[in-house]
Amino acid sequence: MTLPSDAQEELPPLKPMPRHKGHWLWGGTFDFQRNPAEFLLDAHEKYGDVFVTRVLTGQSYFIRDPDVVNAINVTHAKHIFKPKVVKQMWKPFLGNGLVPNDGESWKRQHKLIMPGFHKTRVDAYAPTMVDYTHDMIRGWKDGEQRDFRDEMVELTLRIVAKTLFDTDLAHDSETVHQAMQNIMEALIDHAQTPIPAPRWWPSERNRRMVRALDSMDGVIERLVAARRKQRKDRGDLMSHIVFATDEQGSMSDQQMRDELMTLIFAGHETTAHTLTWAWYLLASNRDKVAKAQAEIDQTIGDRPIGVDDLRELPYLEMCLKESLRRLPAVWIYAREAQMDLRLGDYFFPKGAILAVSPLATGRNAKYFDNPLEYRPERWTREFERQLPKGAYIPFAAGPRVCLGKQFAMMEMRIVLGTLIQNVDVNLLEGFEPDIVPPISMNPGERGMQRKVRFRDGAPVLAGDRDRTQGISSTHAA
Ligand code: HEM
Repeated sequence: MTLPSDAQEELPPLKPMPRHKGHWLWGGTFDFQRNPAEFLLDAHEKYGDVFVTRVLTGQSYFIRDPDVVNAINVTHAKHIFKPKVVKQMWKPFLGNGLVPNDGESWKRQHKLIMPGFHKTRVDAYAPTMVDYTHDMIRGWKDGEQRDFRDEMVELTLRIVAKTLFDTDLAHDSETVHQAMQNIMEALIDHAQTPIPAPRWWPSERNRRMVRALDSMDGVIERLVAARRKQRKDRGDLMSHIVFATDEQGSMSDQQMRDELMTLIFAGHETTAHTLTWAWYLLASNRDKVAKAQAEIDQTIGDRPIGVDDLRELPYLEMCLKESLRRLPAVWIYAREAQMDLRLGDYFFPKGAILAVSPLATGRNAKYFDNPLEYRPERWTREFERQLPKGAYIPFAAGPRVCLGKQFAMMEMRIVLGTLIQNVDVNLLEGFEPDIVPPISMNPGERGMQRKVRFRDGAPVLAGDRDRTQGISSTHAA
């Protein structure tokens, strides 16, 4: 048997693959569906960094071994696609957008869209991110209770719409939010039911999904029509999608719709949930908040955070990296082997579903000592240098790495930094969130409850006061 493998030199013998047997007929199907994150974490502790179980009719391999993860993401990426079952799940929603796409079609779309995420373009979005965060803070009243998750979803949606599509979705945010929620519920339901009702079945959930898709399609049609009417290529991402051409011409209307839907979805929920978990972890570790506050107070004071300031805020970045390790929004992603493969020291047959979990890799005590501890200080340059490739993958890696990684890291530092400048990072007394894993890990219906407490001399409010008194904060300084 010849298998594509990491190196040409003589390889060590293959390791045996531990199996979670589970139910005699269903294998691990119900164990996984009952509580997927808990099952995954427990099973890795029991079986090691790679194990297999049967989920429905196929063999699913769960992987947190860095060598194998890196082979999947990077060295063998060309032999590994998105699973058919996952494409099927996304089809009514994301169609053939970048996330579920593969092969030549993915390559073409990726090439057309990637320039929209060039660093200089992303850097130029910083002032919008600051302005919208300030707008949000201005809407708060001292002492009131608010759900931080809802606010992050609204804020990140507004940011993505303004920066990538130059449109203000403030009026549509409730429609989009509600539609996304209904779509997610239907997708999760479909994914979690062993024999799901067909999509055409007129169940209440399917009907809600169709209505939600219609309203999202309506929002997207309006975005495209508005840009086409302007007939102007502004050089932004929306222009790339609407006007860009290559040797095969421009994108079809359907492909355009799929890419816009993908970018709206991928561009806000993940960032909103990462910020929500960062808030939770900081609020539960007051000494870390104090350190982040001191860094911002000393470096920035009360002026708005600019893109050039970010490199002067290493601790803020460490807090986010540690949050992405401890509670990653994208906690699992899947691939399908297109041929028999040797990855690291294991054998994976053609058709194997390969489930890679940023949550499980981040909990691996071999690489992160005391993994349940929230310790941003571990993220020194030295620590990152010695971390094996594939041990920390909140944005995946290789050709299918998250296209919005730089965008998201900048946005999260600006939003979190601006919040730390202005308000106390807290949770409502006694509040503990739920952790709901399907799709993007989030705190579920109870949200992330907290009390608004402005810090003394919160700069956003001080700026407003100065404005009402007819002086700008620069003059006042
Ligand atoms: C903290 C925030 C984010 C996290 C943790 C995250 C994580 C990920 C991960 C793990 C993937 C790979 C998924 C897979 O292969 O199945 C991915 C793909 C992707 N992400 Fe993100 N993401 C974030 C924010 C964003 C933002 C802000 C955007 C756009 C504005 C974005 C756009 C995309 C796109 C287009 C892909 C598909 C890339 C491809 O396959 O070519 N993401 N993201």
